[in-house]
Amino acid sequence: MSFPSFSTAHFNSFVAVLLCSFFATRSLAQTNQGDSIPNRRWWKEAVVYQIYPRSFKDANGDGIGDLKGIISKLDYIKNLGVDVVWLNPIYSSPNDDNGYDVSDYRNIMSDFGTMADIDALLKGMHDRGIKLVMDLVVNHSSNEHEWFKQSRSSRTSPYREYYHWWPAENGKPPYRYSLFDVNHDAWMYDKTTNAYYLHYFSRKQPDLNWENPKLRHEVYDMMKFWADKGIDGFRMDAFQFARKDTTWPTFPKGFEKNFGQYYYMVPGLHGYLQEMNREVLSKYDLMTVAEGAGNTYEDAHNMVDADRHELDMAYAFDGIDLAKPTGYSILKFKQVFSKWDNVFAEKGWLSIFLANHDQARLVSRFGNDSPEFREVSSKMLSTFLMTMRGTPYYYNGDELGMTNPGFTKIGQYRDKATLNEYHHQQNIHADMAKYMKEIAFSGRDNGRTPFQWDGSKNAGFTSGTPWIEVNPNYKTINAAAQEKDPNSCLNYFRKLTKLRKDNLVFVYGKYTLLDKGNPSVYAYTRELNGKKMLVMLNFTSKQASVNTPFGSANAQMLLCNYDDSTNTVKTILRPYEAIIYRLQ
Ligand code: NOJ
Repeated sequence: MSFPSFSTAHFNSFVAVLLCSFFATRSLAQTNQGDSIPNRRWWKEAVVYQIYPRSFKDANGDGIGDLKGIISKLDYIKNLGVDVVWLNPIYSSPNDDNGYDVSDYRNIMSDFGTMADIDALLKGMHDRGIKLVMDLVVNHSSNEHEWFKQSRSSRTSPYREYYHWWPAENGKPPYRYSLFDVNHDAWMYDKTTNAYYLHYFSRKQPDLNWENPKLRHEVYDMMKFWADKGIDGFRMDAFQFARKDTTWPTFPKGFEKNFGQYYYMVPGLHGYLQEMNREVLSKYDLMTVAEGAGNTYEDAHNMVDADRHELDMAYAFDGIDLAKPTGYSILKFKQVFSKWDNVFAEKGWLSIFLANHDQARLVSRFGNDSPEFREVSSKMLSTFLMTMRGTPYYYNGDELGMTNPGFTKIGQYRDKATLNEYHHQQNIHADMAKYMKEIAFSGRDNGRTPFQWDGSKNAGFTSGTPWIEVNPNYKTINAAAQEKDPNSCLNYFRKLTKLRKDNLVFVYGKYTLLDKGNPSVYAYTRELNGKKMLVMLNFTSKQASVNTPFGSANAQMLLCNYDDSTNTVKTILRPYEAIIYRLQ
């Protein structure tokens, strides 16, 4: 492994900071919308587009998406009007968890390409004014990482303390729940040294020992390696799990039902983040977001309060977790998003999202993917995401209204977490039909089927055999068809990104919930420097009335997901109707 010399890295970062702050100030000052907006940052004003590289575009015909494939679609990405791409892990990996098991943090997975490809991708993005955020997976590594190979080789290895080990002569370690293990047991016995190692995720994802300063500094050096390359940010995978209480107390029976209370943000984690900020983040103009926001609003705040010098924005799951196979309460949905907005109204910054690579498709989970309502409900959800305060994260394919594929056989699934849990359910003689129903609704592979580019074989994703089945509806739902249709989900999404870009009120403006008790309609205003927008969203398949102080007033309609317009504020919304007005 090669390390940049300290002085070179240091100099590069110094120059990078100077240049970044020059360009950041210039580009923000060039718009006249933001005259009196405090604490403006480029990453607050960005729309983040998440690309799952395995499923986006395959350039070499091996059935797996790759970096060259993404490069070939850069103009498509640019034309979406997004500013940042978050790329799921592309580092070397044996792929137990689709790249979330990294075996070399300074190399590229052969399935995806080479270092030259990522350099070309980065350049292609920067040439188009798009920034690149990389996934940083450092709660755990792969068991095939050199560190782990060394660590497991002997109890006296200098790498032993890079991971968590429990000597077997002390008996069995106190139970720890594993999210992905077939037995749900996070301690795995390893006979080489007669000891157990800890893995909160799969057996091939041993947890790194963040208590060890040597490990922490290895991670910081690796982060500098990528920052010096010119990437623009990190999304920190599972970082709220990183700190462990290494006195290994016994947790109460059944703790796994609420494991977050025991696993997330263990005291000391903020210290690591502050150290990381001092050592790396403060030296570059990077956007940082950690997956998960702890157990309380205070946890979330502490992580992103600018005065504490940790990270930039919180990514909280309360909203995304609401969807269940039986539906979700719109009242609860409004309550959750309003509460998060409220507690971050003065300080800190939030991510806004309803989908990612760990979830089923946006329209299938939160909207209505029936032929009658798919388009309109998908547009309505996009309207929500693009008009809330916070940085929107938008998952690739949702701009087309891609749906869950409707897998019915376990053989169609690829995700290790889903497959391991299937075996677990079998082992405990659970109701397997029920499990199959559950994963058809919420399994992670639902969001990982290949991107639907056109109506040709395999949706234009690959000329080979795709690593996971293409959704059979690609003949009708695909980017090429939607390019041609001015009313498509794709073109509607482009209008939304433009609207957000042209109106900073959607980024920074004060949010006020209206008609709070309305069980069908989510209505709110956004206000900034004398500009006021009204957003009304019918979350149901039925016509619904809405009661706002502006009902029937004259207003300028800016966007509607039905193909007509009215400059009178509506009091009745059609199924899944979304409408945005400018009031002042
Ligand atoms: C969260 C990631 O989003 C998920 O895909 C992964 O399986 C786990 N962390 C473990 O890295």
